[in-house]
Amino acid sequence: MIVPKPPGTHVRAEVIGSSDPAPTDYHVWYYGAGVWKSTSWLGVRTLKSVSDMWNYQEVLTELRPRLVVEFGTAYGGSALYFASVLDGLGLDYRILTVDTLPGRIDQQAIDHSRIDVVTASSTSSETAAHISQLRSLFAGPMFAILDSDHSGAHVRAELELITPLLASGDYLVVEDSNLNGHPVMPDYGPGPYEAVESYLADHPGAYRRDEAREAKFGFTFAPGGWLVRQ
Ligand SMILES: C[S@@+](CC[C@H](N)C(=O)[O-])C[C@H]1O[C@@H](n2cnc3c(N)ncnc32)[C@H](O)[C@@H]1O
Repeated sequence: MIVPKPPGTHVRAEVIGSSDPAPTDYHVWYYGAGVWKSTSWLGVRTLKSVSDMWNYQEVLTELRPRLVVEFGTAYGGSALYFASVLDGLGLDYRILTVDTLPGRIDQQAIDHSRIDVVTASSTSSETAAHISQLRSLFAGPMFAILDSDHSGAHVRAELELITPLLASGDYLVVEDSNLNGHPVMPDYGPGPYEAVESYLADHPGAYRRDEAREAKFGFTFAPGGWLVRQ
């Protein structure tokens, strides 16, 4: 069943340009069944859709970043996943992953020599300074992912912080923009999707939406959130 959208809400087919309801039905089922809560990478919980992870792998392989910045570590599974891909590519890189709650982060992520696990708020000035420092040490392409507090106001603040730190061609994923009826949890309130919309309204041209990437596997937890810095 497709969750009805409130009047006026932007209705997007999960495959852009397609009226086939199957991807949205699958998205609603996948999210509601909690598959993403029981997914792991190398035994570490990773709160993601697996098709989004495959898309990350393709983006990372094309971009070959020297720096990955993740807001929202949780158990560390996603940071470990990025490290596995970049190790496989043989890159000299660093990952910065930031979370306010350090207690549940798996030792594998903490021990990985290329992952910096930092306890801080994603929107703090310390985080911005840390990213700037790593940018100068690891010059080259950067991949960033916003996956911490999903309230619209917080994600908007993250966008304000991260955008000036990204260079043209760098890649940004704004996660969980599927909340607030896009298409899951219609009563969530403004979330990542609305934050991206408002940021792009105020800063037209800051990013290009990577719609082909978004549409590739039929559904994504990050609709409208696959962005290339212009
Ligand atoms: C959805 S989880 C991250 C999932 C993880 N990236 C993964 O894929 O497995 C969100 C995390 O954001 C953290 N968080 C909440 N507010 C934050 C903030 N202001 N700054 C940094 N992290 C925050 C939470 O503690 C939580 O661990």
